[in-house]
Order: sequence, then structure tokens, then C-alpha cells
Amino acid sequence: MLICPGDRVLMSDPHYSCYPNFIRYLRGEPQTYPLDEDDGYQPHYRDIARRLNRKTRAVLINSPANPTGAIISKKNLEEIAGLDRWIVSDEIYHGLVYRGRAHSILEFTDRAFVINGFSKLYAMTGWRLGYLIFPPDFRRKLQSLHQNLFISANAFVQWGGIAALEKTGAEVGKMVREFDQRRNLLVDGLRGIGFGIKVPPDGAFYVFANARKFGQDSLKMAFEILEHAGVAVAPGVDFGSRGEGFIRFAYTTSRSQIREGIRRLKKYFRGRE
Ligand SMILES: Cc1ncc(COP(=O)(O)O)c(C=O)c1O
Repeated sequence: MLICPGDRVLMSDPHYSCYPNFIRYLRGEPQTYPLDEDDGYQPHYRDIARRLNRKTRAVLINSPANPTGAIISKKNLEEIAGLDRWIVSDEIYHGLVYRGRAHSILEFTDRAFVINGFSKLYAMTGWRLGYLIFPPDFRRKLQSLHQNLFISANAFVQWGGIAALEKTGAEVGKMVREFDQRRNLLVDGLRGIGFGIKVPPDGAFYVFANARKFGQDSLKMAFEILEHAGVAVAPGVDFGSRGEGFIRFAYTTSRSQIREGIRRLKKYFRGRE
């Protein structure tokens, strides 16, 4: 298939926590290039290109991204599409966009695999319905994998997916506007407490906030926040070494819950001063 033992897959740091595990499971090697909060976590062609070597089989990208909420600009995506490697583009947060536009890698190249699903845009996480768009040459191999491992998604879930595609346009639009308001509320609230958010996220449903002012150990901080403030957050280090000192907040909850969370966080961090 795409990855053989020893092959490298290049991905950003920070990245979705599961990515290195997928690669290691195939006995491949995850390799990273850095993203920087100063320019809104944009991946740059030059940073990727200079890390490619003969072992690099694929470049894995994600836009809008978990954990940063960043959307890869059209220019950067177009340049990445020109790399002489397979591109695996995780587009699972497409549609959850509050500013700008999320482009698909398929607008720029056919040498790409696109991962998508119903979990995020249609809030169908528990239904486990996803899909892959792949180059035709891989059809027989993927068919064999699929027939041996999955056979099919459950029939009722497929009907749910069809209903989501055909009937939820207005609801999805409403939810995207709601997420946008939650995003603004959370970004303002966190900045008010002292978290660093240089560029607000443009998509997905996360805020990746610089918490170095409060401490360096994000895992310890996440547990302390949970225990003392009663707010569940994800430690930045889960998303790669460059995420250390950051905390990821999700706004997949109501605005009143977000206000309550901010109130508790404010109280907790004031108490530590
Ligand atoms: C970037 C990214 N890709 C893929 C997934 C997997 O989504 P699911 O398994 O719910 O379809 C997630 C879930 O958080 C994600 O953040």
C-alpha cells in the first residue's frame, strides 16, 4: 500500500495526536516540520521541501486543523500540492469555517488521498461514518482492505449519512454561526485571563492557547485545571513537542457552559497569582 516499513510520513508539529500512531502501526516513521503561532500555524512549502528525502513517502496535512483551527491558505496549499510526494489531506473539518475559505487539495492535484467523514460537520461522531477519496490506481488494494476489515458501514448509518447530506443545509449553517459565536466568546475570555492567542482560529472547533505564562508542563496544568477548576482541557504536548506549554480548548459546548468555564478558569488562575 502507501506506507511500507521504514517509510517516512512528514506532518506538522503540532498535529492531531493520532497521526504518529497510525504511521507507527504501519511500521513507518513519523517526521515533523514546525508550525509557528506567529503566522497562524501556516505550513510553508520551504519547511516541508527541505525535510524530504528518499525515505519520505507522503506528506500528511490537515486543514482546518486540530488542534490549531488554522486553515491552510490557497497559496500554501497549491505549493504543497506541487511537492513530488503523495499528499494525504485530512479534510474532516471542512465546512466548519468562520473566516476565509478551506480549499481541498484536489483543487490542485490528483496525487492525493482525501480523508473526510460525518463526525464533525454533521455532529455524527458516534455514528462512525467516514470516507476516503483516493487515486484510481489504489482501488484494488483498498477494496481488498475494505472487504476484509470493514465490509461496509452499518446500513442505518448510511441512511443517516444520506439524510445529513440531503436535508441539513439550514441546520448546518445555523450550527456554523453558533460555533463562530462560541469561538469569539472563548477567544475573548481566554485572552482576558492571560492566555496567548496570537491569531484566532479560522475553522474547526478548537482554540490552541499559549499557556507558558502559567507554566511549562501542559500535562500537569491540564490535570490541575481539571481538578481545581472543574474544566476539561487537552494538554498541548499531546499534539507534538511544539505544543508543550499550550492548552487546547474545545468549544463543542453551549455558550452558557463556555461562560461558566471562563468564570472558573479566571477564578483558578487569579487564585494562583
Ligand atoms: C484531525 C482529525 N482527523 C480525524 C479525526 C477522527 O474523526 P472521527 O474518527 O470521529 O471521524 C479527528 C477527531 O478528532 C480529527 O481531529
